[in-house]
This record gives sequence, C-alpha cells and structure tokens, in this order.
Amino acid sequence: MATPTAKRPLRPAKPRDGSDDAAAVRRPLAQASTLPPRYYTEPETYALEVERIFRREWLSIGRVDQVAKPGDFFCTEIFGEPLVAVRDGSQVRVLSRVCRHRGMAVVAGAGNTSSFQCPYHTWTYALDGRLVGAPEMRRAEDFDRAGIRLPEIRSEIWEGWIFVNFDDRAWPLAPALEPLMRAVAPYGLAQFRSTPPLVFDSPWNWKIMVDNFMESYHHLGIHADTLQYFYPASGTYAEDSDGPYAILRNPARPDVEIGTELPQVAGLTDDLQSLLFVAAVFPYHLFAVTPDLLTYYQIEPRTVDHFILRIFVCALPEALDDPARAAALESAREFVNRVHLQDIVACSGVQAGYRSTTARPGRYSHLEKALWQFHRWVLDRLESG
Ligand code: FES
Ligand SMILES: [Fe+2]
Repeated sequence: MATPTAKRPLRPAKPRDGSDDAAAVRRPLAQASTLPPRYYTEPETYALEVERIFRREWLSIGRVDQVAKPGDFFCTEIFGEPLVAVRDGSQVRVLSRVCRHRGMAVVAGAGNTSSFQCPYHTWTYALDGRLVGAPEMRRAEDFDRAGIRLPEIRSEIWEGWIFVNFDDRAWPLAPALEPLMRAVAPYGLAQFRSTPPLVFDSPWNWKIMVDNFMESYHHLGIHADTLQYFYPASGTYAEDSDGPYAILRNPARPDVEIGTELPQVAGLTDDLQSLLFVAAVFPYHLFAVTPDLLTYYQIEPRTVDHFILRIFVCALPEALDDPARAAALESAREFVNRVHLQDIVACSGVQAGYRSTTARPGRYSHLEKALWQFHRWVLDRLESG
C-alpha cells in the first residue's frame, strides 16, 4: 500500500501536460525528435542513469598502456566510485579505493607501487586488494585480516582500453561489439600508445559530450575553420547499428591530404587512408581514428551537469619513441585541443539553453543518425525497470 513516505517511481518526469515528449525519439529518423532537454538537467534522470546505465553497462576508464609495467596504477572516480586500475603481475585489476577501515581513499593520482597504504592509519593492501597490514588491531576481537580486501570491480580489456562493469550478471563486452571490432580491425587500435591527457573540467551533462562527438553536422558551424575544411559535414554518415555502439564515417575532401608527419598504420585501404573514423561504445566511450592518430575521450561523470574529460591523443609506438617526431606529435595535440575549445563553446551553450523553460526537443538532421541511435539506447535503458 502506498504511504506518504513511499518512494516516487524511478522514471524521468513527464511534462506537466501529461504528454511523453521522449516517445518522439523512437520514431523513424526522418520523423523523430531529439531527447527532451529535461534529460540533460534533472537530477532525478541522472540518478536513474546511475542506477540503470552506469551500474549495469561497460564503462571505459583508461588505456591499458597507462599500466604497462607491474605495479603501475592510475586512479579514477566515476559517479561517486573511487577506483584504481593497477597491473598486478601480468594482470590488470580494477579495485575500489575505499579503505575498509574508515573509508579514506587508499591511493590517489598515478604511479608505480608495490602496495597501497592508506594515508590515514596506514592499513596496507596488496595489489590484488588483500589487506596485508593493519597496525594496532590486535585487541579488536575476531578481526579477520585475511578476510578483508578492497573490492575488485569486474573488468575487461577491449582494443587496448580498460572497461569496468559494476554488474556481475552483465553480458561480456566483446561479443556485443563484434561489428565494431571488425570495422576497427585494420587500425590495430591496441598498438596505439597514449600521451599525457588534456584535462577539462566540464560543467555540463555527459550526454551533451556524446551528442557533440557523434555528429559532424556541426563542422559547418563551430568547426568551420578547422574540421570542416578536411571533413565536410555533408559527406559524413553513420552506419546502421544494432548493438551498444555507433559508427560515424567522415571521408576527407578528395583534394586534401589528411595526416601528419607521424608514422601511419600499415596496409590501410585507400578509403581508410582518407577517413576520420569516429565511434562510440555506449554510454560514453568515444574515440576517433585516422591512419596516424587515435584520439580517445575518457569521461568521468560526477553529477547531472558535471564531468571530468580527459582527451588522450595516442600514436603508434615508433612515433612516441622518436624525438624527431615530437614536434609533429605536439602539433597534433594542439589541433585536438583547438577543436575541443570550439566544442566547449557549443556544449556550454547547449547546457545553458537546455536549462531554459523555453527549451524543447528539436528535429534531427539526417547527419545526426548516430545521436538518434544513442538517444534510443539511453531511453531503452532508462525504461528497462
Ligand atoms: S581509513 Fe584507511 S587506515 Fe583508517
Ligand atoms: Fe566537435
């Protein structure tokens, strides 16, 4: 029986007139409307996303080359979960950083270590999470040191990225991505190595970043003096997709050479040599690849209108090992930075606009098919119960 204290049903609020403006997302693309602005601004919707998306789906937290050597680690925090990825011998593990004593984060930042020692009272954990040291605990009755460990989060390596899943019943990641895997196979993405990330504190909803990344319609406007020159909006197209991913192909202008002075992946077809290949693994794993560069957007959701973005510009190992390539690598990073500074203007503008009482769902261009795929995927998850 419902009581005054009963929890409200967990679903995004509908407009006051009782209509379901989200239903228009599900129409065929040419008739559909975008995800309603309230999905980008309501704390309740974000709470539902945490429960039904972030706690159930595969989330990428970094590149495996960030933990190349035994003992290498890096920390991350996603939707309130402090995590550390660490190479324990040959194995990559992802552990909670929450101390089993009184909750302090046992480690921060990145580096190389043989154990994690909590700075508060020096409880010490092995790289597999086992508690191996806890001083002054001998009078604590039935203190079972051997039974205490940092929780390990399920993880999977895919194409050089570390993905985690908080749901032990979730399907493995790789089989769901087979078509995407076939599409990226010629690039050998796992061979790319990261450079230190460009870090952006991003005061907008995480989906605005995904939306922005997954359409090149905006080359016409925001990127008129950068990407539009190489990859005109009108030639870009998304593939059909029936999995948790989207693929957006951006052919280069035929009269323009793309690429830098950096070494390129060998054996690519002519088509791939003149293509910017863009993809998303839902909910928010974003990457773009050309023959010589892999650009990866790592998102750490914090609240409904805040996430941390790390942009990793990755190149082939021979590029990183060759000092003569440093200038070319730096100018590639500068270009990526310049493009993102343009995107910041757009994303901030959308977040501000979506907070307005006048904001409404808009119509999709055919160039926004990947967004439509993403929005339908989000709705499916939020309505999955
Ligand atoms: S909170 Fe970590 S040792 Fe006390
Ligand atoms: Fe952009």
